[in-house]
Amino acid sequence: MSCGLVASNLNLKPGMSLRVRGEVAPDAKSFVLNLGKDSDNLCLHFNPRFEAHGDCNTIVCNSKEGGAWGAEQREPAFPFQPGSEVEVFISFDQPHLTIKLPDQHTFNFPNRLNLEVISYMAADGDFKIKCLAFE
Ligand code: GAL
Repeated sequence: MSCGLVASNLNLKPGMSLRVRGEVAPDAKSFVLNLGKDSDNLCLHFNPRFEAHGDCNTIVCNSKEGGAWGAEQREPAFPFQPGSEVEVFISFDQPHLTIKLPDQHTFNFPNRLNLEVISYMAADGDFKIKCLAFE
């Protein structure tokens, strides 16, 4: 299904972070950042939904294991606007990932798969990546 940027062999270890800057399309409905082992095993599916799957201005996060989705986690904050440039900062720690959004909103998502390394990343949807950094 993914047709945006896909990266493999990332070797992102606990203590490391990923910084993603990009442009949200003016008519954005949704975009996705997936992190994990491969497309069927994701420790983080980060999905801001402007208007998609019945959600309006809601961030939906989930995990996927062996191709099966886990339980969704919804965030109260939605600091995204169509037609703007945004930066998302994701740090990987063994027990959880910490996601820093624009406007200083921060939340955790548990590393349900207990991955020791993130090797796969995929971006999809109404978001154009301008800059990607591993820190
Ligand atoms: C589904 C959606 C998937 C994914 C998943 C997350 O409804 O089709 O793309 O976002 O929710 O739980």
